[in-house]
Amino acid sequence: MSEAEHRIDTSVPHSARIWNYWLGGKDNYPVDEAAGDAYTAVFPGIVTIARSSRAFLGRTIRHLAGEAGIRQFLDVGTGLPTVDNTHEVAQSVAPDARIVYVDHDPLVLTHARALLTSTPEGATDYVDADLYDTERILGAAAKTLDLTRPTALILSGILGHVADYDRARGIVRDLLAGLPPGSYLSLNEGSRGTDPDYEQAQDAYNETGAVPYFLRPVEQIEAYFEGLELVEPGVVSVPLWRPEASASGVAAPAIGQHGGVGRKR
Ligand SMILES: C[S@@+](CC[C@H](N)C(=O)[O-])C[C@H]1O[C@@H](n2cnc3c(N)ncnc32)[C@H](O)[C@@H]1O
Repeated sequence: MSEAEHRIDTSVPHSARIWNYWLGGKDNYPVDEAAGDAYTAVFPGIVTIARSSRAFLGRTIRHLAGEAGIRQFLDVGTGLPTVDNTHEVAQSVAPDARIVYVDHDPLVLTHARALLTSTPEGATDYVDADLYDTERILGAAAKTLDLTRPTALILSGILGHVADYDRARGIVRDLLAGLPPGSYLSLNEGSRGTDPDYEQAQDAYNETGAVPYFLRPVEQIEAYFEGLELVEPGVVSVPLWRPEASASGVAAPAIGQHGGVGRKR
């Protein structure tokens, strides 16, 4: 057994594994399934939120690799490999895209190394680092990415793990400071104010011993983009960000997950 596997604690539910459970994945333990089910008993909408957040991520990456012409991606808080991982979406548009994934969870590390493999033309790398250590993240990313060239920073469902909002904003600022003008931020986070059941389920989850995740008012999610030029339609509930035509032609309803894409001037 590797050192990383030794560090996997299967007695406490874990964010990445519960998220994987809601996304329909198999990389989770009974403790995660129990925590996931306790959550959906109070707020079943979390499954739609998890899946809509991944769909938003996919649409933003397609936009960045396509229209915006970005070839480098720094995805911090990668999660367990699932469908439409960042490098798969980016490299399906631009096979030469280079992606650095960052996470601090040993299970994520083990799976990512095995599964996140690149096209021959591009590159993927995996960095075991903490979100708080922005200097280390940028230093390690620079081994695979040319950080003098525009790069997309991906923060998807990770900043809610930072209890102190000002600290979370500082992390976004510090990471963007290491990227040149013309770089982008794709960000989406759980939001308060849409459904009291969501807030109740999240509060209960935060008592389980798992690393807590804090839902934030939409204005706070918008403020992560301060100083950036927002790509249309701005910061919105994720299903409303450049939705693809649905089979029924009916627009998906707004949910408690907000996000957007911004460009560094
Ligand atoms: C809810 S998952 C989101 C996964 C993926 N980005 C997505 O949108 O589907 C949050 C991820 O952030 C990682 N994470 C949480 N706190 C972190 C920290 N302080 N440093 C690095 N990664 C962290 C977790 O391990 C997990 O993989």
